[in-house]
Amino acid sequence: MRSIHVIGIGAGDPDYVTSQAVRALNDTDVFFAMDKGQAKDDLVALRREICQRFIVEPGYRFVELPDPKRASDGDYPQAVADWHAARARVWARAIETELGPDGVGAFLAWGDPSLYDSTLRILDQVLDHVEFTYDVIPGITAVQALTARHRIPLNDVGEPVLITTGRQLRGTGVAGSAVVMLDGDCSFLTCPPQTRIWWGAYLGTPDELLMSGTVGEVGELIAELRADARARHGWIMDIYLLRPNAV
Ligand SMILES: C[S@@+](CC[C@H](N)C(=O)[O-])C[C@H]1O[C@@H](n2cnc3c(N)ncnc32)[C@H](O)[C@@H]1O
Repeated sequence: MRSIHVIGIGAGDPDYVTSQAVRALNDTDVFFAMDKGQAKDDLVALRREICQRFIVEPGYRFVELPDPKRASDGDYPQAVADWHAARARVWARAIETELGPDGVGAFLAWGDPSLYDSTLRILDQVLDHVEFTYDVIPGITAVQALTARHRIPLNDVGEPVLITTGRQLRGTGVAGSAVVMLDGDCSFLTCPPQTRIWWGAYLGTPDELLMSGTVGEVGELIAELRADARARHGWIMDIYLLRPNAV
């Protein structure tokens, strides 16, 4: 039967690739790739670098999956559900046509596949169209890259941590430690000035940027640095930890 590895490759540094991931990379015949947007070239290059570096006998192929268009008007959850269903049909066709009956395919997920990544949700739907088995190899997330580079614990002693998005932060604020991802709008600027922030962009890559302080001290500086880096690279990935009650 066909099988698929969903491999977390870590959030930027090829050294984040685990030995379990290396085993799965070496077991793979066909890598299915579906990056998009301005970051596409850089992210594809990193995935190819990982394959070149870790695969001992390079008999593998890359197959690019076309990405169906997502409706931009109307109900957001419905638009995402339709988009996932359309992707599932594309992936099913690719698995059927590109993998032999006992072939091994892989999806390389940035960071870890369980965190703000739709690969596993879509693969579950692909099973409605084509039969295969799959396993999941965990990876180092941008959250761990951020805390490691700032050398800080994620949570306060005995306290919970929220992982959220910029959109949610703007809507509801945060009451305790919170990691904010997927924020294109510097939503930390809406926080009270005494809020502590640890910010990082392009973590684990040669372009990495780090800054920390209170939102009052460094908020505007981060916004400027972010805008400048985004203009230079054409894309940016950044993440931050907030602690509203930090002393
Ligand atoms: C679609 S999510 C994917 C997260 C990924 N699955 C993970 O485990 O980290 C993309 C978001 O992750 C964060 N991110 C991922 N890699 C990053 C990096 N190297 N530096 C900074 N932020 C990163 C950013 O907030 C970005 O908007």
